[in-house]
Amino acid sequence: MNQSLNKLLATFNDTLMASIEASKLNTDLEQSMLYSLEAGGKRVRPLLLLATLNMLQPNQYEKGMQTAVALEMIHTYSLIHDDLPAMDNDDLRRGKPTNHKVYGEWLAILAGDALLTKAFECVSNDHSLTAETRVALISSLSDASGHRGMVGGQTLDMQSESLDVPLSVLEQIHLHKTGALIRFAVHAATIIANTNENEQQQLLQFANHLGIIFQIKDDLLDQYGTTEALGKQTGSDDANNKSTYVTLLGRAEAETILARHVADAEEILAVLSQKYNTTDLDYLLKLFYQRQN
Ligand code: IPE
Ligand code: IPE
Ligand code: MG
Ligand code: MG
Ligand code: MG
Repeated sequence: MNQSLNKLLATFNDTLMASIEASKLNTDLEQSMLYSLEAGGKRVRPLLLLATLNMLQPNQYEKGMQTAVALEMIHTYSLIHDDLPAMDNDDLRRGKPTNHKVYGEWLAILAGDALLTKAFECVSNDHSLTAETRVALISSLSDASGHRGMVGGQTLDMQSESLDVPLSVLEQIHLHKTGALIRFAVHAATIIANTNENEQQQLLQFANHLGIIFQIKDDLLDQYGTTEALGKQTGSDDANNKSTYVTLLGRAEAETILARHVADAEEILAVLSQKYNTTDLDYLLKLFYQRQN
């Protein structure tokens, strides 16, 4: 990672780890929340938010820090619940036993619930932003996370197990279960930077491609990656009869569609680079499709 992204990552990780205060209640809830937050995810969503904001308003990334924390909390909660026996039933996440394997199912469910609600507290209490900006962020984050966003996509994913769904449905699964939070990262940056409508639309188009790219790559890695590099069990999609780009279309076709989205995303960045320094976004795009974990 380049120096500028490394700096964003280090500051972000410090802020995230300081975000769960102790509670007066004598439970393991905070420990369970921190277990999954600390487990070392790639942090691509917060990095995308902070890098986009840095591009739009150089050196103003601090204004996005609490929103980036909120986004990573919601993403982490979605993973804790995704791994539960009732959903994908996975035992390994971020190189460690899944939350429910360590804390049991009820505490894993509650840790997810608490991370979800904590996220909205982080944005509401961010006094570096105006009240109006905070409300706009909360509105966008709830839409991206809920029934018309990530949770809706997870529902379609579960409902499509063991079915031969058409490509159009598969695209909807990916755009929602994974794309919605990735799109929020970019949307949040444009809200904070007060970007004009035209550029906001370009950036959201870029984010839509990124979301699909990220999940097609996730599908490929589930089948062709290694558990060691991934930090999660490979073959999970097959075991659950999931509808993925690989299971429905095969490797070659999945890679062709991936490359098409990458080319489209690159084209949008080329346009933006006439006005902005897109170095960090160029780097993140590469990370999204070349990653091995
Ligand atoms: C995994 O996301 C779930 C998907 C949406 C594909 P990541 O691959 O970003 O997981 P972490 O945060 O790095 O663990
Ligand atoms: C999950 O997709 C997307 C979420 C919203 C959590 P997957 O089920 O493919 O994610 P992994 O492979 O378990 O990380
Ligand atoms: Mg899943
Ligand atoms: Mg899963
Ligand atoms: Mg997967």
